Amino acid sequence: MGRPFILINLKTYAEGSGQRAHAIAGAAQQVADEAGVDIGLAPSYMNIHPLSMHYSLPVYAQHVDPLPPGAHTGSVTVEAIREAGAVGSLVNHSERRLTLADIEACVSRLREARLVPIVCTNNVPTSAAAAALSPGYVAIEPPELIGGDVSVSTANPGIITGTVEAVRKVNPDVRILTGAGIHSGKCVRTAIDLGTDGVLLASSVVKAKAPISVLRDLVSLL
Ligand code: G3P
Repeated sequence: MGRPFILINLKTYAEGSGQRAHAIAGAAQQVADEAGVDIGLAPSYMNIHPLSMHYSLPVYAQHVDPLPPGAHTGSVTVEAIREAGAVGSLVNHSERRLTLADIEACVSRLREARLVPIVCTNNVPTSAAAAALSPGYVAIEPPELIGGDVSVSTANPGIITGTVEAVRKVNPDVRILTGAGIHSGKCVRTAIDLGTDGVLLASSVVKAKAPISVLRDLVSLL
């Protein structure tokens, strides 16, 4: 297993936009350097380019449309996020669900562009199905725990171990993240001990008064 990966989804939180996105990115860069942990950011489209220019952290899109460049008003293509500096994209986040056909098309287009697809799933069978598409990562997140104070690591460890087993059986090269309610070093440690490669999280860092303190705690047991 490689180094643990912590991906911070800034969603569309006001606290994660504009200059506040820079403040979180600066804190994340500092903690990644201090702790030797890989930390990535998934900001809004507006911040992909500025963050990828100013920081060495990998930047991901939160969503991408499965369309080629052309006459598709209002869509965001794989080519556009790559040119903005993204190294990959979330696909099928629970706040941006896609059809199976669109998930497959997003994963294929991202892979063709040499970007990393991170497919979000909500249970063990969808994790197995996502693994069959050979994305870079499957990210298991029980939707009912997203944004709350109780983490998936403590509330539903079975969904993590079930996903790890199912994904490894389908394609052992696919890395696994888990998320929903992750807020402390203990949550991250448990997720890693259950067999994942890291975590996907949002509110505990983005909405914190001092994101750097939360980030330091998140990496403290790695
Ligand atoms: O994409 C991460 C996410 O859905 C989990 O959100 O706020 O529970 O960490 P949160």
